[in-house]
Amino acid sequence: MRFDDGSAGDADYGRIGDGYSRYRRPDPRIEALILRALGDAQSVLNVGAGAGSYEPTDRETVAVEPSAAMRAQRAAQLPPAIDAVAERLPFADATFDGSMATFTVHQWPDLAAGLAEMRRVTRGPVVILSCDPERLDLFWLDRYAPEVTEVEARRYPAIATIADALGGTADIIPVPIPLDCSDGFNEAYYGRPERLLHPGARLACSAWSFVDPGVASRFSAELGRDLESGVWDSRHGHLRRQPFFDGSLRLVVGRRD
Ligand SMILES: C[S@@+](CC[C@H](N)C(=O)[O-])C[C@H]1O[C@@H](n2cnc3c(N)ncnc32)[C@H](O)[C@@H]1O
Repeated sequence: MRFDDGSAGDADYGRIGDGYSRYRRPDPRIEALILRALGDAQSVLNVGAGAGSYEPTDRETVAVEPSAAMRAQRAAQLPPAIDAVAERLPFADATFDGSMATFTVHQWPDLAAGLAEMRRVTRGPVVILSCDPERLDLFWLDRYAPEVTEVEARRYPAIATIADALGGTADIIPVPIPLDCSDGFNEAYYGRPERLLHPGARLACSAWSFVDPGVASRFSAELGRDLESGVWDSRHGHLRRQPFFDGSLRLVVGRRD
């Protein structure tokens, strides 16, 4: 099933996608890890490319993105994205040196089919940036909005499932989240809690669109109160000075044997 704007995953970017590129700017430290994982791949496929975050600009890239709202936010220097879905990639076998998919596999209706397609069209590394559902409760958000953590834990596939589906050999690389991370996924605010009080910041993280709006109101009221009273700082204030957070973010790099 596809939504009106073409969105082909569990989230409707026609409804929530408008401000995405304002809050979800690629972070250079995370980008460096992705580029390293892609190695010397010269032709790169980006699946579920969205507005183009993390897409290399120094190589030949092809992007696949089903949502019109997300395609419309791609920067001018990037090639237009092809309207297609991970589960049916319109390319011949072994077309690309490398391929990548960032913050997207948890939304695909058929994960195994999408990853098999990426493997099929890629000669070299397949690089997946995703979240480990076992580690989501390390983040203080779980204390204020457990409904959001629960939604995320249900949506994100186990890291081992991704690695197995890619076949061959897979490296699993922890991705430390920087304190000033420019890519506004929920955990990016681990040391800047005030920013998650902005409705736009939450809208750029699709999990919030799966919980009752009352959860966001309760979250804002409780976090706002704890920030004002100093309770948040007494519990988590050290995070304001912690340069990196080892949360749930992981890179899975699959290679053919
Ligand atoms: C959270 S956004 C991530 C976008 C971008 N990769 C990034 O890192 O900012 C998830 C993207 O996955 C796309 N997506 C969802 N289901 C998909 C599918 N079945 N095939 C391809 N892309 C899909 C959505 O349209 C959306 O643009």
